[in-house]
Parts: sequence; structure tokens; C-alpha cells
Amino acid sequence: MNKHDDVEKKMKMDENDDMLTTRQGQPITNNQNIRTIGNRGPATLENYDFIEKISHFDRERVPERVVHARGAGAHGYFETYGKAGDKDVSHYTRAKVFQGAGKQTPVFVRFSTVIGGMESPETARDPRGFAVKFYTEDGNWDLVGNNLKIFFIRDAIKFPDMIHSFKPDPVTNLPDPERMFDFVSQSPEALHMITFVFSPWGIPANYRQMQGSGVNTYKWVNEQGEAVLIKYHWEPLNNEIKNLTQKEAEEIQAKTVSHATQDLYEAIENGEYPEWELNVQIMSDDEHPELDFDPLDDTKLWPQEQFPFIPVGKMVLNKNPENYFDEVEQAAFGTGVLVDGLDFSDDKMLQGRTFSYSDTQRHRVGTNYLQLPINAPKKHVGSNQHGGQMSYRTEYTKGKNPHINYEPSSLGGFKEAHQSGKDHEPHYNASLKRESIDRENNYGQTGDTYRSFEEWEKDELISNLTDALSICQPHIQNQMIEHFSKADEEYGRRLKESLDQTKKATKNEHTSTLEADKAVSESQHKGKE
Ligand code: HEM
Repeated sequence: MNKHDDVEKKMKMDENDDMLTTRQGQPITNNQNIRTIGNRGPATLENYDFIEKISHFDRERVPERVVHARGAGAHGYFETYGKAGDKDVSHYTRAKVFQGAGKQTPVFVRFSTVIGGMESPETARDPRGFAVKFYTEDGNWDLVGNNLKIFFIRDAIKFPDMIHSFKPDPVTNLPDPERMFDFVSQSPEALHMITFVFSPWGIPANYRQMQGSGVNTYKWVNEQGEAVLIKYHWEPLNNEIKNLTQKEAEEIQAKTVSHATQDLYEAIENGEYPEWELNVQIMSDDEHPELDFDPLDDTKLWPQEQFPFIPVGKMVLNKNPENYFDEVEQAAFGTGVLVDGLDFSDDKMLQGRTFSYSDTQRHRVGTNYLQLPINAPKKHVGSNQHGGQMSYRTEYTKGKNPHINYEPSSLGGFKEAHQSGKDHEPHYNASLKRESIDRENNYGQTGDTYRSFEEWEKDELISNLTDALSICQPHIQNQMIEHFSKADEEYGRRLKESLDQTKKATKNEHTSTLEADKAVSESQHKGKE
């Protein structure tokens, strides 16, 4: 379908609806010329239409997301698989979104890269964001995940430092792997994620051919108030998982910086709706001393042999946004956005994230970002939180006494809802601490992941790490080699050999350049004699 057919399809309007107007609705008869004194003369301040047009243009942008600024989005639905056998999860969670078979819930999804700015290349070696907003009958639920199943750090207090070190240098504004590896070499919990990101898994081919994961550990709560620990995973259903080598990514980047946005948009326009299956892993809600890692540590995979994937439903994306800014740029996802039957775990990253999202969105989009259609629940909202910039929700008080904006009241207004099940009330008996978890085990799964790669993936990993580390100072290189060797002897050794070879090649290049320069200067010198 060409772009113009597409525009025509979307523009089914009344005859008068195609008239250009101001934002006040007044017809515009001349959109080519400002008013001036004489046709060459100076403009005047009463050029109201012009001043309105330009000043609105001046404000077209909102701050980009501090991370995940580059993204694409689509609408669709989530459908539960149902009641049969192990697919019945109703004894684990009372969340209505998971009850019954064939139940559909509308969703909006935004995919993204993490580090680059709004228009940065989508071929970046970077995790991909995979954020899903479920518009459930109990209000909105956001599952804000990534493509990879783990993360770089396990404590939220390190997030700003980690991001600063990955983003461009504050002086030169240039990306600098030395800053990144300086941070990583002193944060060994990042090794596992670095191993994925520097392998071909660090550049998914596009958004349709990648997995998704909630990464952090959540809880499900049933009618009795009992909880289990949960991890969420999205698996592509009608597309193969595909990653790019560095060379393939560079070839795409030479032609376009938007291949993933284009791929998603065109697939949906052509009716090739991408689908993912939602799987959960379930663990009892305790410390699991038998494991060599802490279940709340987001740098670890939960082994699938012990905690099998349970498929609970599928998601289909079947509609492109009608306006990028309104729906994708202003979309606001957060880990605090849960519904009854879903809960937080004590995962320290999740707890930190949960404050951060709505905090940044009040700044990025504005106090009333939840009133925007893309963020508002598709159900009744009965809140007494009102006012603030750009507030407009008349239906808040529909059918209620509009004078009552507080609760409790005997004069009307909103009443507390009836609670469906028992509260989940975890018990704590510990002193307040500022300490790392006990079972850090930074190397075990890193080694497992390295050994699980195919030979070509290992080759890519070593080559990509060599490229990035070869510009770093020797003490950073050595520290990284030491870490990787602890994870797997071969991993560390191959990286060391590769770095040594690069150093030798650079030295040889340097020596031959020096020799060539010397030869030139000698011949010039001779020429003068
Ligand atoms: C976006 C904070 C860890 C996935 C964001 C944003 C912030 C943020 C401030 C921008 C939100 C906006 O402007 O709307 C944090 C903090 C973290 C953390 C403080 C750790 C303490 C993670 C992890 C994941 C993740 C572990 C993966 C599971 C995402 C995604 C987005 C995002 C997918 C983009 C959402 C969208 O498409 O709008 N994060 N983040 N973040 N974060 Fe995190």
C-alpha cells in the first residue's frame, strides 16, 4: 500500500472538514504570507495567527525520555488461553485479566532502544524495551520489560551511575566505551548482561523478531491472599527470533536509522500482525536457600528445567497509532501500575523503578498525563485527585454530587470499592540495612550463558568485546579479562588473546607507518642534497 492510499483511507471526512483553521476554529484564507507594511515591509505584532502558529511550533517537543527515548508503538489485544490443565492460573492469581478462556483485553505496546536519543539508529547494540499497557476492567496494568531476561545491576541506587557511564561523555558528547567498561569492570554483577549484549543477542533484527521479559520478579496473589513469585516472558509466536551480527547491523545502518520502526509499521499496515505468547515462571514466595542465587536478583535467569514456562495467553498487535506524538511519545508506562491480584516483590530494582516512572512522567508529559487517551484507563475513573496543569475530565463527577471532591462523605461523591479477596500481608522480621544480598554469584550464570552460545555467537562476542575494550586503558582491560576468566576460563583467555592480537596489529601498523614516514623524509632529504 502506498503512503497516499493510506492517508486517503484514514481521511473519511465531511466536505467542510478539510478546511484549514486556526486552533480557535477560525478559517485560514492565506497560509503563505504574513501581514507586512507593504509587500516588502516589516511585520506587525498584531499578526496573531502567525504568532500563534510559530509559538505553538516552538513548543512542539516535550523532553525526551531520559532512557528509552527512541521507540515505536502499536495497539492490539491480549487473549487468555484458558482453563485447561496447567493453563489454569486462577489458583495463583485473582487478577481478572487472567481469568477464563479466550478473554480479550486491549493493549498498547511500545518498543524502544535504551541509550540513544529520539532519532538515534535502531541498529544500536543495546537492550530493547518491551513495554505493554493492558487496559483491564480493573484499571490499567503495565508490564515494563526488555527483550533480554536479565539486567546489568541489581540495586536501583546504581541506575543513574550506570546510565551516565553508558551515555555520551558529558564534555565531548561522544559515546565512549571506556567510561562504560570503567563502570562495568567495577560492577561484576553486570557481566552476565554484558555477555548477552555483546553477543548477537545485543542487536535484535527488529521489534517483531524478538522476545520480551518483565525481568524483575513480581508476585501473583490469589483469593486467599497467598502469593507466589512470578517472572513474565513474551515469546514471538508467528515470527522467528532473529539477531544481527555487527556487520549486518552496520550494513542496515548505512541505509536507514529507522528500520525497526518501518518494519513494525509496514507489517501491521499489510495485515501481518505480530503475535507473542505470554509465559510465566512461578516460584514459591520464599528465599529458596537451595538455589545458588537469590530469586529476587534480576541479573539471574530462573532455570527453565526447574521453573518451566507456563503459557497463559497471546498478544496480537493489529493497529498502528494514528499519531506518533499523541500515542507513542506521550505514552507513560510504569512498574507501579498493577491491578488487584498482581503485586510487587521485594526485588530492589523493581522497588526503585516503581518510584521513578511516574515521577519522570509528571515532569516529561505533565501532572495530568493520566488523562491523555493513551494513558487513561478504558473504564470509569472516580478519583478526587483533580486540578493541575491541563486538567480536563468532566466525567469524573458524572452522576455524582459535583461539590464533593473528598472522601468519606455523607453527601455523595465516590465510595471505596468492595475488596474481592484477602490482602496479601507478608511478614518481616529483620533490621534495616544498607547491604548487598548474600548470594551474589556474579560468575556462575555468566559462564553458563557463554557456554550455551553457538560457536559463531562466541566469535561475535569476542570480536565485539575486543572492539570496545581495545580503546580502554590496560587496567580496565585486565579487570574485564579477570572477571570473564572467573566466569569461564576459555572466555577470558579468548578475550585476552584477541586483545593482544589487536595490540600487536596496531603496533605493527604504527611501526610500518613510522617506517614509511621515515622513508619519505629520507628521500625528500636526499632530493634536497
Ligand atoms: C523507561 C527508570 C530499570 C525498562 C524508563 C524511564 C525511566 C526509567 C525514568 C523513562 C520513562 C518515561 O519517561 O516515560 C528506570 C530505573 C531503573 C530502570 C530507575 C532501575 C532502577 C529498568 C529495567 C527495565 C526497564 C530493569 C527492563 C525490565 C524500561 C522500558 C522503558 C523504560 C521498557 C521505556 C518505556 C516506554 O516505552 O515508554 N526507565 N528504569 N527499566 N524502562 Fe526503565
